[in-house]
Amino acid sequence: MRGHGGVRCLHILVLVLSTLGLQAVASSREIEHANHDGKWAKKQGTYDPLSSAYAALQAWKLAITNDPTGVTATWVGYDVCSYRGVFCELLNDNDPWSKVVAGIDLNHANLSGTLVEELGYLKDLGLFHINTNFFTGTLPNSFKDLTKLFELDVSNNLFSGSFPYVTLQMPSLIYLDIRFNEFYGPLPPAVFDKSLDALFVNNNHFDCQIPNNFGNSPVSVVVLANNKLNGELPRSISNMSNTLNELVVLNNDFNGILPPEVGELDQVVLFDVSSNNFTGTLPDTLQGLGSLEIFNVGDNQLKGNITENICGLPNVRNLTFRDNYFTGEAGLCLEITYPPRDVVVDVSGNCIAGLGDQKPPQVCSAFLGTEFISPSSPPVYYYPPPVYSPPPVYSPPPVYSPPPPPPVYSPPPPVYSPPPPPPVYSPPPPVYSPPPPVYSPPPPVYSPPPPPPVYSPPPPPVYSPPPPPVYSPPVYSPPPPPVYSPPYGGYSSSPPNC
Ligand SMILES: *[C@@H]1O[C@H](CO)[C@@H](O)[C@H](O)[C@H]1NC(C)=O
Ligand SMILES: *[C@@H]1O[C@H](CO)[C@@H](O)[C@H](O)[C@H]1NC(C)=O
Ligand SMILES: *[C@@H]1O[C@H](CO)[C@@H](O)[C@H](O)[C@H]1NC(C)=O
Ligand SMILES: *[C@@H]1O[C@H](CO)[C@@H](O)[C@H](O)[C@H]1NC(C)=O
Ligand SMILES: *[C@@H]1O[C@H](CO)[C@@H](O)[C@H](O)[C@H]1NC(C)=O
Repeated sequence: MRGHGGVRCLHILVLVLSTLGLQAVASSREIEHANHDGKWAKKQGTYDPLSSAYAALQAWKLAITNDPTGVTATWVGYDVCSYRGVFCELLNDNDPWSKVVAGIDLNHANLSGTLVEELGYLKDLGLFHINTNFFTGTLPNSFKDLTKLFELDVSNNLFSGSFPYVTLQMPSLIYLDIRFNEFYGPLPPAVFDKSLDALFVNNNHFDCQIPNNFGNSPVSVVVLANNKLNGELPRSISNMSNTLNELVVLNNDFNGILPPEVGELDQVVLFDVSSNNFTGTLPDTLQGLGSLEIFNVGDNQLKGNITENICGLPNVRNLTFRDNYFTGEAGLCLEITYPPRDVVVDVSGNCIAGLGDQKPPQVCSAFLGTEFISPSSPPVYYYPPPVYSPPPVYSPPPVYSPPPPPPVYSPPPPVYSPPPPPPVYSPPPPVYSPPPPVYSPPPPVYSPPPPPPVYSPPPPPVYSPPPPPVYSPPVYSPPPPPVYSPPYGGYSSSPPNC
């Protein structure tokens, strides 16, 4: 959680700055600005933040083609700080004339159109949130001028083209969220050399292999899910051992083994590599995952035994091994499913002799050959347990009472729930809400995010609802192609081949 801590400190700082500053600003400055516009400011060779902001926002307004919630109808006049979705703060608390546009928050506004180069005039912007709209095209190259921007959330739009390389030139960026768009091509190595804390690229069309410098990334959260990435999980992942809390690469085309270096991720709480083509056995280093709570290797082609080195981890809550070719399960993996642990352990769809809900024997023997139920190696555990076997460690008193029923896997929580409803646009408090943690301790990650994040730091004035949950589909998403697709990624060049 160290990384999140860093993000939160920054947020709290900005929040304090903004609440101190917002009320105190005199209106005389706006009158002053009424004499200028961005062009004037440029012509004089001076930088006048609010005039430049006026020019930027008016240019953007012209590029917004549909505005059903009437946001840009409020974008009238020179007082840009009164525009809906635009948030100002003082650069210097003691100087009421130091007001700048510090945040744009237009989440869930149902806007259509494109972003414009003029947005690069907003040089003091710290936060740019436009999740859940219908924007097309890509990010303007001028975003490289947003040198203070630390939080960029363009998720759940119709952006397309190659990875938005301009984000690599944004020096202050720590939260990069481009999930639920139509980006494609490779992920550039440089994104893993950036000082990001959170990287969300899930639910796009990225392909190719993850670069080998993956492990250089200091992120606490990386979500690559639901793309077409392939190749092996880079062994450099061991270099993320001090920082990585959540790794979610589910539903790609990864193959190869789960490298033993995975066992070095002792800060990882959520590890999900499900729905790929991983092969081989579970690494025998998994006992190193001391912080692990949720583990999902389901729907791969793994074999061998599910061993105590994973089931014996102290903090696990939900272990999913289903739909592989495992042939044995350590007794401990059953014991932890009883009170008081009540760990959810799903071993269905495997090749474990004696257990119900396994693959047909012919499927198992076709894949495993002679490894499958060889008489010399009986399964580690038979289910249901023999009546007189020692009671499970955590079973409730009556020694010979039948064991509790196996964990119920259905009905599952609504994995594909839609994003939360759009908020009502009313004069909002300052925007500086933290990025919603994808993983917030007690409640399971896979449930829809409760609209304010449970573990957000102090008083989060959550005007902006969380971006779409990792596992929900884009509301306004494919199959329908973008209404307007600029030529191959707008301002970016076409994606290179792998
Ligand atoms: C935004 O669009 C969605 C999907 O079309 C719709 O369900 C929702 O009512 C719209 N919200 C507003 C405020 O227009
Ligand atoms: C981890 O980082 C160090 C220092 O940057 C580097 O020398 C090493 O090769 C990296 N390890 C892996 C497995 O990439
Ligand atoms: C994954 O494995 C299956 C079964 O071997 C194979 O049919 C499929 O093509 C593989 N997919 C990739 C992307 O390698
Ligand atoms: C699985 O466990 C059984 C019983 O302990 C053992 O005979 C077998 O070799 C194990 N298989 C692997 C792949 O480790
Ligand atoms: C456990 O994890 C699986 C797979 O990630 C998920 O489908 C299931 O809902 C989880 N169960 C609980 C009780 O959290």
